[in-house]
Amino acid sequence: MKCQHCKKKAIFKSPRLCEDHFVEYFERKIGKFLDKYKIKNKKLLVAISGGKDSVAVSYILSKLKEKFNLKIEYFFIRLGIPVFTEKSEEIALKITQMTNEKLTIYDLEKEEGFTIMDIKYKPCSYCGMIRRYILNKYAFENDFDYVVLGHNLDDEVFFIFNNMFNKNITQLQRTGPLTPTIKEKKLVGRIKPLYFLTEEEILTYTKLKSLPYIGCACPNSLKSTQKKFKTNIEFSRDQKLNIVYSILEMKKFLPEEKIEIKFCEKCGYPTTSNICKFCRTKERIRG
Ligand code: FES
Ligand code: ZN
Ligand code: ZN
Repeated sequence: MKCQHCKKKAIFKSPRLCEDHFVEYFERKIGKFLDKYKIKNKKLLVAISGGKDSVAVSYILSKLKEKFNLKIEYFFIRLGIPVFTEKSEEIALKITQMTNEKLTIYDLEKEEGFTIMDIKYKPCSYCGMIRRYILNKYAFENDFDYVVLGHNLDDEVFFIFNNMFNKNITQLQRTGPLTPTIKEKKLVGRIKPLYFLTEEEILTYTKLKSLPYIGCACPNSLKSTQKKFKTNIEFSRDQKLNIVYSILEMKKFLPEEKIEIKFCEKCGYPTTSNICKFCRTKERIRG
């Protein structure tokens, strides 16, 4: 099987590309994303978990930073999962060494007095909220324009279906490659530069570029619904893209989420109740 642009052997099926053209295609897609969503002259906080997605996005943004005049910093949260956290941190340090960017390591236990393992029931379901809270707070206090997340096309397809399975139509308003920054509400926007790329494409890129990444999922999440969904349902790349394009179109007609944003009585960060979920979780753990 030959590359669709040259005579070299194709290493990827859809699109059918050789090594060099695949790397070019992948990086061009990220460049197009930055152009489309006007990510120029911005200060970005890149969340690194150690997985292939966050490693790929941190590497590529560092590569494109001059072209788009970006200021980049990496951020790693030490969650306190035995072995897994240490291994993930090693990856964060390695990618930082490769790119020479600044890395901040946030130790959950030192800063907040608990680790993710102190949450006895389904820690992974709290983990996202905890990471979002910490990233938003740090980004807000340090004047970042956006937090960068490594979510990919497969994650978004899962998000869409999961909400449809649960009839959470209004939640679909939350999908999308960019959420805006609302300074007066202390909310820093988020961008997902890998939004239109599949897991397979990202994995191929990380391998071709010999990027370090942690190959296994969080040990607490082995039975997660997302994993079951991804292993049971097979869509082609084009089908996945069409699913997200359709939802992005349909969003215009979906009912607006009516949430009143207040400020948490404890920490002063945005919440929908009097005390935010992060502060409530922290209080519960500390008894
Ligand atoms: Fe963070 Fe499982 S504890 S994803
Ligand atoms: Zn080629
Ligand atoms: Zn709070």
